[in-house]
Amino acid sequence: MNVNIKEKIIELKEKMNAIILAHNYQVPEVQEIADFVGDSLELARKAVNVDAKYIVFAGVDFMAETAAILNPDKTVLLPSRAAACEMAKYLTSEKIRKYRELYPDAAVVLYVNSTAEAKAEADITCTSANAVKVVKSLSAKTILFGPDANLASYVAENVPDKEIIPLPSEGHCYVHTSFDPEWIPKDGFIMVHPECPPEIRKIGNIIASTGGMIKFVKNSTETKFVVVTEKDMISRLKRDFPDREFIAAYENAICLGMKNITLEKILYSLENKKHRVVVEEKIAEKARKAILRMLEVS
Ligand code: 13P
Ligand code: SF4
Repeated sequence: MNVNIKEKIIELKEKMNAIILAHNYQVPEVQEIADFVGDSLELARKAVNVDAKYIVFAGVDFMAETAAILNPDKTVLLPSRAAACEMAKYLTSEKIRKYRELYPDAAVVLYVNSTAEAKAEADITCTSANAVKVVKSLSAKTILFGPDANLASYVAENVPDKEIIPLPSEGHCYVHTSFDPEWIPKDGFIMVHPECPPEIRKIGNIIASTGGMIKFVKNSTETKFVVVTEKDMISRLKRDFPDREFIAAYENAICLGMKNITLEKILYSLENKKHRVVVEEKIAEKARKAILRMLEVS
C-alpha cells in the first residue's frame, strides 16, 4: 500500500516540478520520501534556494508560512490544516506592540515558531540553532524575546551582558516541557533541545537544535546517545547513523501538529494543490525583512 503511495508521490512530484521539504520530527516514511530533511533554519535556507514550482511542506504551519513569505512566486502547500505549532499561539502582534511601548529601546527577537503577523512586528527572527548568535549580533542591551520563555532563558544564560525579557513569560512547547528529570535515562551522552526548561537543560551534555544534534553526532566518538526532544528525531538519527545507539528520553514526547502529515495527505496535497499557504503581502513584506536579516546574520 505504502509502496504504491510512495511511487505516486514521486511520479506526481516530478510531473509538477514540486519539492518536499520535511522537518526532523516527521514520521520516518515522510522523512524518507522528502527531498530535504532538516531543522527550522536549514529548511528556511532551503526554501530560499529551491528551484521548484511547488513546495510541499512536511512540517508545521509556521515553517510553511516562512517558506511562503520567502517565496511569493512559488506555491507552498501544507498537506494538513491541523499541522500547527502550539507555541506560536502564545504571542500576538498586539502584545508585541504593547511591549514595544513599555521598552522603547529594546530590540524584538522572535523565534520562528510564531505567526506571520507576529514576525511582521519583529526586528529579527531566530531559530533554536542561531538564537544566541542572533541576539549577540544586536547592539540593543534589552531584548524582548518570544514566544518561547525557555529558549529566552537559554539565550539569557549565554548572553549575560544583555537583559532578555521573555514575551510572554508563559510561552512554552508542551512537548519539550513534558520531560521528567528523574525519568531521563542517564546511561548515554545526553543531547537536549533548548526549548526544554532549565532543570532539563542542566542534565544535558550538550544543548542543540535538531540540526545541531546531527552535526554533533557526526563529529563525535560517543556511541550511545539519549535524545531529549521530540520522539521522531530518533528516526532521523538512526537512519543517518545506523552504527550508533539512540534512546528517546520519553516515548510520549510527540508533537501532534507534526504527526498530522502522512503520506496519504502528501499525495492528496499534490493531487489537489492543497492547502495553499498564502500570507498577505502587507504582513509578508515586513516579516520577510526580519527573516532575511536572520539569514544574513547566521
Ligand atoms: P529545530 O529548529 O531545532 O528543528 O526545532 C524546531 C522545533 O519546533 C522544535 O520544537
Ligand atoms: Fe511547536 Fe513544540 Fe511541535 Fe516544535 S515540538 S513544532 S515548538 S509544538
